Amino acid sequence: MASLKTLLCLGVCLSAWIITTADETMLNAENVRWFSLDFKTILRWTTKPSDHKYTVSYSSDDLNWLGCPHCTRVSDSECDLTDELKASDRTYSAKVQTEPLIEDDSDDPDEFPHTNSLPFNPYRESNISAAAFTVKAVDKSRVNVSITDPLTSIHVGGKQLSIRDILKKDLKYKITYHKSGSTGKRDILSDSSTAQVSKLDAGQSYCFMVAAFIPSRPRATQQGAWSTRQCTPGDSNSLEELSLGTWVGVAFVLLTVLITIVMVTVLCCRCRRQRNTSQSSAPV
Ligand SMILES: *[C@@H]1O[C@H](CO)[C@@H](O)[C@H](O)[C@H]1NC(C)=O
Repeated sequence: MASLKTLLCLGVCLSAWIITTADETMLNAENVRWFSLDFKTILRWTTKPSDHKYTVSYSSDDLNWLGCPHCTRVSDSECDLTDELKASDRTYSAKVQTEPLIEDDSDDPDEFPHTNSLPFNPYRESNISAAAFTVKAVDKSRVNVSITDPLTSIHVGGKQLSIRDILKKDLKYKITYHKSGSTGKRDILSDSSTAQVSKLDAGQSYCFMVAAFIPSRPRATQQGAWSTRQCTPGDSNSLEELSLGTWVGVAFVLLTVLITIVMVTVLCCRCRRQRNTSQSSAPV
């Protein structure tokens, strides 16, 4: 009888344990991921629907964890850590902790269910957006490309920093260009935000694209997004420059003229033949 009681108790305890642990893992934030563009860095996660609140902390050494006031006991599923991490060349980890529904100061926060992020280094891993740029002809075979460094979300002393302010000498730009209508591309790596491209064929239209390029970074994050293409005007009287549409238009006009001529000729011939037959039949 006693052993049955023990068994029963064990069963109850076991199922209670299974329920609580299952419950706890269910409460964990999932898919904790970094999203970072031009040094605006956001941690996002997903949750199961519940009334729980979440608290984010971060650390650069896995020992000292710092909280951020705007991400303490929040119901959101993201936290903007831009101001905390800045653009420092350090590797950070973050964790998202699920707060108990009933606050109890005697609870040890280390026991709360939490999920850790992968390590993240803003300086080396933040994505860089496409840069705006202009192309201006200097003479027949040279153009100046001037690029506007994208702005970041980091402010220092009231000034909004550009990616150049942060990456300094590490920032280069890749400039790729090709003759309009041809596929052969040429690349240039420029140390500064203005560059001169020379040895262009006079009178030709060229198309340019630029992207930030940071050789000191790991390969996967070296290159920023490509900007949209910009083309220089070529000599417009060159026949090669005419677009397909223009050619189709020209062909259409020529065809119409040809058909008209043929029809007029046919009609005229018929008229004359008719007149000829009526004349020859008249005296009979
Ligand atoms: C950077 O962009 C790539 C491609 O869009 C994306 O897969 C990656 O998650 C982004 N990284 C960050 C840190 O936002």
